This record gives sequence, C-alpha cells and structure tokens, in this order.
Amino acid sequence: MSKANDEYIPALSYRFLTPFYDFIQKYIVRDVRYKALLIAQANIQAGHHVLDLGCGTGTLAIMAKQTRPAAEVSGLDADPDMLKVANYKSAQMNAPVKFDVGFTNKLPYPDQSFDRVLSSIMIHHLKTPDKWQTAREVYRILKPGGQLHIIDFGKPVTWYGKLLGPLLHKFEEANDNIEGKLPEIFGAPGLKTEILGNFWTFFGDLAFLKGEKV
Ligand SMILES: C[S@@+](CC[C@H](N)C(=O)[O-])C[C@H]1O[C@@H](n2cnc3c(N)ncnc32)[C@H](O)[C@@H]1O
Repeated sequence: MSKANDEYIPALSYRFLTPFYDFIQKYIVRDVRYKALLIAQANIQAGHHVLDLGCGTGTLAIMAKQTRPAAEVSGLDADPDMLKVANYKSAQMNAPVKFDVGFTNKLPYPDQSFDRVLSSIMIHHLKTPDKWQTAREVYRILKPGGQLHIIDFGKPVTWYGKLLGPLLHKFEEANDNIEGKLPEIFGAPGLKTEILGNFWTFFGDLAFLKGEKV
C-alpha cells in the first residue's frame, strides 16, 4: 500500500493546465450546477463556520459565502497558485473568504471548530492512506452535530459512467471512489454517512455524500 504523503496532485494533474481550470470546470464539467446542489444539501446557517476542503480556485467557498453571507467561510488547499486565483475572485466578488495553504491530512485548525465541511472533486486526488487520515482530521475539526458534504467520483451508476469506470480505475487515487468506499472511509472515525444522489459529468458519475457527527 502506498504511504501517506505531503505531495499533492495539481487540479488538472499538470501545472501548465492550471490557468484553464475555471474554464474547464464551468463549460465542460458544469461545476456551478453541482456545487449549488451541494450547498443546498449542506443547509448552511447564519453564524456557521464552514470549511471548503481542497478549495482550488475557491468557487464553492465563494458560492457558500454568497448563499449565506453571515456564515464564516474558509478554504484550504495545498496549491498556492490555486489560492492566488481564489483570493482574487473572492475580492472581485466582494465575498470574503479566508484561504489557507495546507494539507487535508494535517488540518491547521483546532478540534471541533467547524459546523460544515464541504469538498468538491478533491478526495479522488488522495492516495488511500491520505483519504483515511483526512477522514480522521475531518472528524476531529467538526463540532458535535456538524456535517460533512462531499461531491466526488462515486460508484458508477449510468451506462456512460460504467463505461468510464475501468479507465478511472487506472488512477490509484480514484479507486476507492469508483469502488464506492467513501462512505466507509469517512464513516470509520464516527460520522454517520450516506450517499444522497448522483450527478453525471463528461468525466464520470459523481456522488453526493453526507456525513454527520452524531
Ligand atoms: C480537482 S481540484 C478541485 C478544486 C475545487 N474543490 C473545485 O471543485 O473546483 C483538486 C484540488 O485539490 C487540491 N489538493 C490535492 N491534494 C491535496 C491535499 N492533500 N491537501 C490539500 N489540497 C489538495 C489541489 O491542489 C486542487 O486544487
């Protein structure tokens, strides 16, 4: 089994593609649609402390802040170049979000400090040991009653997703996703997890996961 590590896979696998990230997300992956659904699922309230895990260029975190301006929203990502774009967008859109550089397997936040942890298409970037360690970290930083909401590759449900499944399976980091293991991994530290739905994309079937610290 591979080891947990402090390296990360850039958003589009290769750094030279980073400037095209938002364009691809918007026009090919239709990210705003599933991010809006994830935010609705999270039911963020005024005063909530919200973290976007692996926030990339900050689209989800900014949308969360725009949806619930009285929530305090943070975003964390390992890639400072992505966070530069996130900070620029947040200032342009007058949606203040605190962006932090960091790794999901060692979150720089105190125990029980967030009401909601959101994450969009990031978990499939993590090797298996990092997924398990990230699950422990998410559990640690969630308040009692706090919730985790993930949208990421899941067990294929459409014929198209099933066709792509074997291709995605070639990427070690995506295997747990395609095999439907995310509820088990994020449930292990103590969250009550369930899959609430799916979303078709050109790159494969995504699944909406909810976890609650009961
Ligand atoms: C496909 S992008 C998704 C970005 C954003 N959540 C979105 O939906 O547009 C994956 C992001 O995860 C970040 N990432 C990968 N491994 C990470 C890790 N171990 N810790 C923190 N961020 C990580 C990458 O830098 C990248 O910005």
